[in-house]
Amino acid sequence: MREDLKCEIIFRREIAPNQIELILKNRRLAQEARPGQFVHIAIENGVNILRRPISICDSFMENTRIIFEIKGEGTRWLAERREGDVLTLMGPLGNGFSIEPGKRAFVIGGGIGTFPLYKLCKTLNKPEIFLGFRNKDMVVMENEFSMTGNLHIATDDGSYGYYGFAITLAEEKIDGCDIIYACGPRPMLKAVKALAEKYGKKAQLSMEERMGCGIGACLVCVCKTTTGNRQVCLQGPVFDADEVIFD
Ligand SMILES: Cc1cc2nc3c(=O)[nH]c(=O)nc-3n(C[C@H](O)[C@H](O)[C@H](O)COP(=O)(O)OP(=O)(O)OC[C@H]3O[C@@H](n4cnc5c(N)ncnc54)[C@H](O)[C@@H]3O)c2cc1C
Ligand code: FES
Repeated sequence: MREDLKCEIIFRREIAPNQIELILKNRRLAQEARPGQFVHIAIENGVNILRRPISICDSFMENTRIIFEIKGEGTRWLAERREGDVLTLMGPLGNGFSIEPGKRAFVIGGGIGTFPLYKLCKTLNKPEIFLGFRNKDMVVMENEFSMTGNLHIATDDGSYGYYGFAITLAEEKIDGCDIIYACGPRPMLKAVKALAEKYGKKAQLSMEERMGCGIGACLVCVCKTTTGNRQVCLQGPVFDADEVIFD
């Protein structure tokens, strides 16, 4: 949806250090959102002209849930909004994940890349879920993810769950996998592509490039693929792993 929508914040909380959850009220946005799509939010602080893309974590009835980490000025402004404030945004944008029914799905996420995977996990049939976090304090949505599938958690410092990378856990169980869905930092996505190639599995990667316009007009967000440069905002953010070229 390329036109601006007005969305009232009806719920706000900090779910982990520097990580904010907002629930936004707009029936059209909630009804149209598919797993892996995002919203492009206007930062109305008089300084940042460019909008900021944030994935749709979940949507139900007239509510859409987003979760974001405070990184810079844009997300700080967003974190300072309160219940009752109204955001201007475009969405849902992007292609989202394509669900392949009947396939045994592995879902791999890291850090802020775990949030867009929640709606996906709710849509899939009991996926194996592998989520990686920096440490115990950053582990979020554990109960919710575990209601949707078989959840495995890894932390970089071993303070909770498996000591190491989520992808290592996924590789140990790879025989039970037909398709991998992944979202997370670039090195993780590169490793998922290598894993999929090694074992001959299909994989879909959600690429989180920096964005400008969010609607295909500026080329800020291009990612290299086997069919040339493609716009993450318009033709992504989800791409088949075998077409993404990592430098
Ligand atoms: C399709 C998409 C979905 C996203 N979904 C989420 C989400 O659900 N939750 C969430 O917390 N974040 C998400 N992001 C990342 C989020 O958009 C950025 O963190 C945000 O735009 C930073 O804006 P800022 O003004 O706060 O920081 P800036 O001042 O713009 O940047 C601060 C720091 O963050 C880094 N940064 C900025 N944009 C990105 C990016 N796209 N990817 C990685 N690093 C970046 C910059 O390099 C810089 O180091 C998503 C990005 C995309 C493209
Ligand atoms: S952000 Fe402008 S083309 Fe994608």
